[in-house]
Amino acid sequence: MRVFSLTVALFAGLTNAAFYYPDVQTSLLEHILVDNWGAYASNFSSAITPCTNYVTQIGEAARNSGRTTAAQWMRVLFHDFITANVSAGTGGVDASIGFETARGENSGSAFNDSFTFWRPFVNEFVPMADLVALGTVMSNNLCGGHIMPYRPGRKDANAADPTTGVPAPETDLEETLVFFERAGFDQTDSIKLTACGHTLGSVHHGGFPDVVDDSAVTPNNTNGGVNFDTTRGVFDTKVVEEYLAWTGQKGGPLVTTANITAQSDLRLYESDKNVTMRDLLGQGESFKDTCVDLLGRAMNTVPGSVELKAPIAPLTVKPINVTFDFGSDGRLFLSGRIRILSGANDSNPKSLDLHILNRDIKLEAESENGRSAWGSNLIGTSTTYGTTTYFPFSIDDPSIGKAKSFSIAGQTFSLQGESFIVPSTSTLSGTTLNIIVAIQQSRPCNDFTLETASPEVRQGTLAPRIVEGTAAFQKAPGLSGYQLCQSVAQLDQESTGLVSVKLLESGVLVDTLLVNGGKAGW
Ligand code: HEM
Ligand SMILES: *[C@@H]1O[C@H](CO)[C@@H](O)[C@H](O)[C@H]1NC(C)=O
Ligand SMILES: *[C@@H]1O[C@H](CO)[C@@H](O)[C@H](O)[C@H]1NC(C)=O
Ligand SMILES: *[C@@H]1O[C@H](CO)[C@@H](O)[C@H](O)[C@H]1NC(C)=O
Ligand SMILES: *[C@@H]1O[C@H](CO)[C@@H](O)[C@H](O)[C@H]1NC(C)=O
Ligand SMILES: *[C@@H]1O[C@H](CO)[C@@H](O)[C@H](O)[C@H]1NC(C)=O
Ligand SMILES: *[C@@H]1O[C@H](CO)[C@@H](O)[C@H](O)[C@H]1NC(C)=O
Ligand SMILES: *[C@@H]1O[C@H](CO)[C@@H](O)[C@H](O)[C@H]1NC(C)=O
Ligand SMILES: *[C@@H]1O[C@H](CO)[C@@H](O)[C@H](O)[C@H]1NC(C)=O
Repeated sequence: MRVFSLTVALFAGLTNAAFYYPDVQTSLLEHILVDNWGAYASNFSSAITPCTNYVTQIGEAARNSGRTTAAQWMRVLFHDFITANVSAGTGGVDASIGFETARGENSGSAFNDSFTFWRPFVNEFVPMADLVALGTVMSNNLCGGHIMPYRPGRKDANAADPTTGVPAPETDLEETLVFFERAGFDQTDSIKLTACGHTLGSVHHGGFPDVVDDSAVTPNNTNGGVNFDTTRGVFDTKVVEEYLAWTGQKGGPLVTTANITAQSDLRLYESDKNVTMRDLLGQGESFKDTCVDLLGRAMNTVPGSVELKAPIAPLTVKPINVTFDFGSDGRLFLSGRIRILSGANDSNPKSLDLHILNRDIKLEAESENGRSAWGSNLIGTSTTYGTTTYFPFSIDDPSIGKAKSFSIAGQTFSLQGESFIVPSTSTLSGTTLNIIVAIQQSRPCNDFTLETASPEVRQGTLAPRIVEGTAAFQKAPGLSGYQLCQSVAQLDQESTGLVSVKLLESGVLVDTLLVNGGKAGW
């Protein structure tokens, strides 16, 4: 079997009964990064497919709005990041922008539009701030940029950032450079970062009437957008080319507007006599690497107390939804899917060997594949994408509960079937969680506790807060040699996304399950 050669993740220290490899956070975020289109795709990419899409309205209204979701996501990053004071260690990417939408400096619909789409993806393991960064990575990776690494680990702010000061069209050059400097970007960096951002999207009459007058508003451009370059949905060098050659959009409305006070891009780009802009033009295709670097620095600017984790590497072999459960006949079984990620030039595998309890089981590929920006290959002007192939399995061997691991293509994945949350009978309905766990030996149910963490509506921002709770278990009738324990827990509000349910034995975490109450966008 040939698989796309990528960093192989380590699966050490896994204690869960299964489900999330290599851990909950990585599994969820890797899914968004890799599973872009086709079979089992994350819904995240759909918002920016095609890259001119606008997700906040639907149908004709969206197509005719003149707004661009992929571009909005990058602007959200800019506004969240730029109020950082790196010498004080405050601000940066912390989703505080959600509390700051009424500030004049945050004019426009991008912030709440983006948070509305991202909100159902937030849970205990995925804060809004990580999605602010991920939005830019996805827009870049899917819309023509060079693949950008993504590091998780941000934390959501609980209030607005007291620091204000986002450059606006009328902000003078000196003050603009002070804001960038505060966030760790010198003059050259600021020109580069702005040109990278302004290769996508538009300035809209709706939000910026002093820059774009009402003549831009037409039935097929209802928000009156005037684009920064001739390809508003493509991450390319056009904005730089058109500015210097004075063709197409000539660098966009913040260069060409008749209102001299509002020509902020012209002031910035010209502030070193166009030297940096000419340098960017000279870079050609490498402009995209410069943007990977600068946008990466912006998204990794976080408060001093936050430590980012290592970049998420796409997994060549990924077990998904692998879990123990009971069938309708009461028999224990282990089921799930194995996802294989292949590069654009590789052929997709047709079968796969799964080794478990001294048995080799031959798995057959499902007919529908997925497509991924990871492992893609640029041939001329067209891109061929990486492919994901799925191998389902279900094993109801009577001894399956004793399996401690399984292996695929030389990689071993840990399992434990001693005590687990039963997926098919653990549900969230409204605010009621009904959880059943199975325990192999006849230990008392009160050795176990349930911990919950639910994303809920928070005042003043569309970023949810995470509300934690605990509950006890009661003995329930047994099944297939397992003791069952039940817990019914009440959330104080309906959740906005996936609720985490954690099983602890004498205080030690033994299993985690994310329960969908019907709101999650995954
Ligand atoms: C001097 C600095 C900057 C100023 C004054 C500025 C100003 C603006 C304004 C007025 C808009 C129009 C928003 C709308 O009509 O919806 C805009 C759009 C945009 N900005 Fe900037 N910007 C600056 C720097 C940056 C930087 C550093 C980035 C990097 C991520 C960025 C990314 C974007 C994007 C992607 C859009 C398009 C949004 C859309 O189409 O909805 N900007 N900017
Ligand atoms: C950043 O914070 C430091 C320390 O609190 C402060 O002295 C400085 O004025 C701040 N910088 C800006 C540009 O506000
Ligand atoms: C130009 O823009 C500035 C700030 O955006 C605004 O205060 C002023 O009224 C505008 N001038 C004209 C003539 O539209
Ligand atoms: C709107 O329609 C006009 C005339 O058909 C066309 O030139 C223009 O490109 C369209 N604008 C957008 C934003 O689709
Ligand atoms: C910078 O480039 C712009 C756009 O091509 C041009 O209008 C302007 O005169 C240039 N300025 C300098 C100082 O070269
Ligand atoms: C995993 O489970 C979720 C929730 O039931 C489902 O939406 C998704 O399609 C499953 N993915 C795979 C690859 O089995
Ligand atoms: C894939 O194949 C194309 C065309 O044959 C080639 O140009 C490219 O370098 C190959 N890519 C990789 C990653 O091997
Ligand atoms: C954005 O949403 C928040 C939370 O619902 C709300 O308080 C705020 O007023 C909204 N901002 C705008 C500009 O609509
Ligand atoms: C998926 O995203 C689309 C927008 O791209 C949205 O309309 C739809 O409601 C989302 N589906 C789910 C299940 O969240």
